[in-house]
Amino acid sequence: MAPSKAETPQETIHVELGARSYDILIRRGLLKDIGAELTRLRCAGKVGVVTDRNLAGHYLKPVTRVLKAAGYTVVPIVLPPGERTKTLRAISTVMDALVNARFERSSTLLALGGGVIGDITGFAAAIYQRGISFVQVPTSLVAQVDSSVGGKTGVDHPKGKNLIGAFNQPRAVFIDPATLRTLPPREWVAGLAEVIKYGVIEDQAFFEYLEQYMGPILKLDDGPVAHIVKRSCEIKAQVVSEDEREADRRRILNFGHTIGHALESLGGYRGLIHGEAVAVGMVYEADLARHLGHCDQDVVTRVRSLVEAAGLPARLPNVTFSALWNAMQQDKKVSAGTVYCVVPDRIGSVRVVPLAKAQTRTWFEAVRVREAGLRTVKKKRSR
Ligand code: NAD
Ligand code: GLY
Repeated sequence: MAPSKAETPQETIHVELGARSYDILIRRGLLKDIGAELTRLRCAGKVGVVTDRNLAGHYLKPVTRVLKAAGYTVVPIVLPPGERTKTLRAISTVMDALVNARFERSSTLLALGGGVIGDITGFAAAIYQRGISFVQVPTSLVAQVDSSVGGKTGVDHPKGKNLIGAFNQPRAVFIDPATLRTLPPREWVAGLAEVIKYGVIEDQAFFEYLEQYMGPILKLDDGPVAHIVKRSCEIKAQVVSEDEREADRRRILNFGHTIGHALESLGGYRGLIHGEAVAVGMVYEADLARHLGHCDQDVVTRVRSLVEAAGLPARLPNVTFSALWNAMQQDKKVSAGTVYCVVPDRIGSVRVVPLAKAQTRTWFEAVRVREAGLRTVKKKRSR
C-alpha cells in the first residue's frame, strides 16, 4: 500500500444531482477502508476492480485484500497504462471479463487509477447490462481533482478525444491523497494544469494561493496538497451540480481544452499528456482571448507564469494552423459547425465564445511571428 503518513480527518464534498447525488470522500489512508465504504453504499456481490498495470503493482493486492475481507468476490481487470488504451477495444476487454465472470445488474465496478481508467470504467458500467454501479478511486492528480467527479465517461476515437461515451455518475468518489506519493513526477505536474484551470475559471483567491504556494505544492507538502485537491473538487462539484450535462455553465471546465484536446489528438496521444496539453491550451487560449479583446495582457502573463512555475509546458508545438483548426473541429465543443472556446475576462472569470476561422488564423500567424522573433533575439543574445 502507499507509504501512508498520519491519517487526516475526512473531508466530504457533496455533488448534488437529485437521485444521482453522491459524496466525494477525501482522506489519507482511505484506501484501506474501501471495503467498509462499499458495504456502507450497500454494494453487493461481485466487484470488478478495473486498473492498469502500473497501478496494479502498487495497489491491486491491498485493495483486493480489503474488499475480500469485507465479503466481496473480486475480479481484477488489468489494462495497459496510458491514453492509447482509452479505446473501444478496452471497453470490449472489460465487457469480456464481466461476461466471463457472470457479473449481474447488482455487481459493481471500481475504477482504481487515473483518468484513463476512470473514464473507461464509468463507460463500461454505463453499458454493461444497460447499467451497473461504479465507484471512483482516483489515484492520479488529474483524476483526484477533475476526472473522477462529474460523470463524464468514455473513450477516444482515432479522430478525436472522448468522442464516444456517456454521462454516468459514480455512486461515490474515494480519494486517498497518499496514493499521489507513487505518481511519477511528470504525471503529478500534469495534474497541476487542471488545478490552475479552476483558479482561472472560477476563483481568483485560489489562483493567488497557487501563485504563492507552488513551491510547497511541488514538494508534495501535505497541507497544500490537501487544499488543492479539496478546493478543486468543491469547484467541480458546484459546477457539475448546476449543469450536469454541459448545456451551458459546465462548458467553463473546458478552458484550455479546445487547443489542448487538438494538440493531444494531433500528437496521436503519444506526445503531450493530457494535463500538459491543457497547460499549453490555457496559455494560448488566454492569449487568443487577449487578441479578441476579452482580457488584458496581465491575464496572459499570469497564466503563463503560473504554468511555467508548475514546470508545465507553455509553448505551442510546431503545428500548422490548418492542422490545429481541423483538429479543433473534431472536438465535442463544436456546435452547428462552430468551434467554441472558453476565454478569460480576468483571473477568476471566463466566458464561452465562438471562434471565427479568419480571426483565429490572424491570431495564430501573429503568435508564430512573435515567437520566431523571440527565438531570434534569444539566439543573438546567446552568441
Ligand atoms: P492516466 O490515467 O493515463 O494516468 C497517468 C499515468 O499515471 C498512468 O501511466 C498511470 O498508470 C499512472 N498512475 C496513476 N496514478 C498513479 C499512482 N498513484 N501511482 C503510480 N502511477 C500512477 O491519465 P490521467 O492524467 O490520470 O488522466 C488523463 C485522462 O483523464 C485523459 O484521458 C483525459 O481525457 C481524462 N479526463 C477526463 C475528465 C472527465 O471529466 N471525465 C476530466 C479530465 C481528464
Ligand atoms: N473536465 C471537463 C468536465 O468534466 O466537464
